[in-house]
Amino acid sequence: MTNRKLIAGNWKMNGSLAANEVLVKALLQGADSAPACDVVLCVPAPYLGQVQALVADSHLALGSQDVSAQTHGAYTGEKSATMLKDFGVRYAIVGHSERRQYHGETDETVAAKAAAALGAGITPIVCVGETLAERDAGQTEEVVKRQLAAVIHVNGHCISEIVVAYEPVWAIGTGKTASPGQAQAVHALLRTQLHHASSEHAPGIRILYGGSMNAANAAELLAQPDIDGGLIGGASLKAPDFLQIIAAAR
Ligand code: PGA
Repeated sequence: MTNRKLIAGNWKMNGSLAANEVLVKALLQGADSAPACDVVLCVPAPYLGQVQALVADSHLALGSQDVSAQTHGAYTGEKSATMLKDFGVRYAIVGHSERRQYHGETDETVAAKAAAALGAGITPIVCVGETLAERDAGQTEEVVKRQLAAVIHVNGHCISEIVVAYEPVWAIGTGKTASPGQAQAVHALLRTQLHHASSEHAPGIRILYGGSMNAANAAELLAQPDIDGGLIGGASLKAPDFLQIIAAAR
């Protein structure tokens, strides 16, 4: 089975009103209005309203980089799933390694955030991935399985609604990409784990690769049988590069 691919841009904490407008307009002009894949832009929260207006009635979907596990109340600085939904957000990244590392997000927090997104009809893009030290210690399989297991444990009943992103931490923003073989090997074991949770839905769950995916390496990564798209940081800020990645996803 081949899934329709998903190409997700993760702008991280980059952009400005002026730069966002230039970037999104270039993406709208440069892309086929009906690309062979789904495309989402995960933008910084202050720009959701701006980008919602820019992508209205286009093939570009809007995404968030995080979501609160809570529904409302005294959680200063947090953004609830229903608030994101108000801005037309369709996808939310949860458990990005930068959130795990700098904001102390645990596997349990990530699972709760995925549940909060699902509860509001937003598709969580659940990130998993090992550090270099974990890979070197031969712990890659154990780490990614533990991270995904927490999400399956809490959200098993709606597992078919999630997207998984394998992002080896050592490949993020470093220019060091996992080789297609290394990435496929981890994707295959994540697929097997999903299969144990739901043999019916596992084949259709999209598993994205992230970590220095760029215009030059995208096609080979996306050709792997269990790589159903990409989560792209740096290269999603450059319209020509992101457009080339979109064109490679078919
Ligand atoms: P990168 O980031 O493409 O800049 O490596 C990917 C990510 O962190 O999602």
